[in-house]
Amino acid sequence: MSGFEEKDGVLHADGVSLAAIAKDVGTPTYVYSSSVIEEQFNRLKDAMQKALPKDRQPMLCFACKANSNLAVLSLLQSLGSGLETVSEGELIRGLKVGFMGSQIVATGVGKQRREIAACLKADIAQFNVESLPELEQINSVAQEVGIKARVAFRLNPNVSGGGHHKISTGRTQDKFGMGVEMMEQAYAMAAAMSHVAPVGLSMHIGSQVYDVAKFRDAFAAFPEIVKKLRGNGHTVSRLDIGGGFPIVYNEERLLDLDAYAQWVNEIIVPLGTEIIMEPGRYLVGNAGVLLSEVLYVKETPDRKFLILDAAMNDLLRPALYDAYHGIEPVASRNAAWAKYDVVGPVCETGDTFTTDREMPAMKAGDFAVIKSAGAYGTSMASNYNTRPLAAEVMTRNGQYAVIRPRQTYEDVIGRDVMPDWSVKAKAAS
Ligand SMILES: Cc1ncc(COP(=O)(O)O)c(C=O)c1O
Repeated sequence: MSGFEEKDGVLHADGVSLAAIAKDVGTPTYVYSSSVIEEQFNRLKDAMQKALPKDRQPMLCFACKANSNLAVLSLLQSLGSGLETVSEGELIRGLKVGFMGSQIVATGVGKQRREIAACLKADIAQFNVESLPELEQINSVAQEVGIKARVAFRLNPNVSGGGHHKISTGRTQDKFGMGVEMMEQAYAMAAAMSHVAPVGLSMHIGSQVYDVAKFRDAFAAFPEIVKKLRGNGHTVSRLDIGGGFPIVYNEERLLDLDAYAQWVNEIIVPLGTEIIMEPGRYLVGNAGVLLSEVLYVKETPDRKFLILDAAMNDLLRPALYDAYHGIEPVASRNAAWAKYDVVGPVCETGDTFTTDREMPAMKAGDFAVIKSAGAYGTSMASNYNTRPLAAEVMTRNGQYAVIRPRQTYEDVIGRDVMPDWSVKAKAAS
């Protein structure tokens, strides 16, 4: 059994009963199916292999903001993935599991000096530069460290790609990248600097991009600017074309990957550069569920609330983006249906996973899964309401491993420090 399947009336992940995991590890717990991650990676790789010449295959750099657990990174590295990072913390994670600097690209609008220095020391493949002040900063740090930085400029094509306005990144009003009109100036500035080497351009138009034509529209910005830059005597040897591939949360129509790969072949490949891609959600989103226990069924005159032990601090997407996630019982899956608002224990009305949703009836003590939670789930989790971070588990071939134990209260509050004055004030009173 691979992926998520029902067996003897109970939901399993890679042949492991989710009810058994819930009993052994407790809830809330994220469960990731390694077989689904593997399948997704190979699906994307195969689509590119089918459409692009053998010697022009992209480097797939997993955008680890989607899920940065070391076990997930290590699995993807074993499959041949590279890494896209946006912080020193993510870089540290990548290096820890054995990614080489040459497999890592660093994006982000607010790179700090120490983060830039850490990337230089790791000899990363390239910085995706998002502004001219950042370029100056990178040159200055590179001078200090004594290492030349390879830079690619993030082109903002003014194409609205994301499935929600908060995850659209390629419009002129967004903070990301620079307009096409800035590219010649940026390249010229970089060429005149002592410690940066411009190598190309990058782009990422948003997340959950359902309409493949958006990618075509965005890619269309590349040929002319690449030609201009080369005409100005610059080297453009790499194009990083970003991520943004959607997954199924409800009944969405998935991106036509073959059409996407075809656009890459028709628009990007003729430019004769190396190609980098930055898939995040696509590789891990459908591989994860958030396993939780029903604490109470609360009925009011007009609603029925299913109160789970998972909350918005564990999975923020519904509160942040009004995102849809499937919710199902782990067992008793054929029970008569009932209509619920599914909520967590956090003291916010926004701590609501769904409203007015029909699903098989559940009772206190039942286990439920919140589906498609493998991306931007635990990586966006917090300790709000002093709730320990959920445990994380990975499944593979009938086995499971805890890949991060649940936080203890000591983990959560142990680093708080009472200032001297409050201790003294207490003693004096
Ligand atoms: C620069 C960059 N690349 C890649 C990604 C990954 O996007 P997705 O998870 O939609 O593939 C993101 C997500 O925010 C991003 O900001």
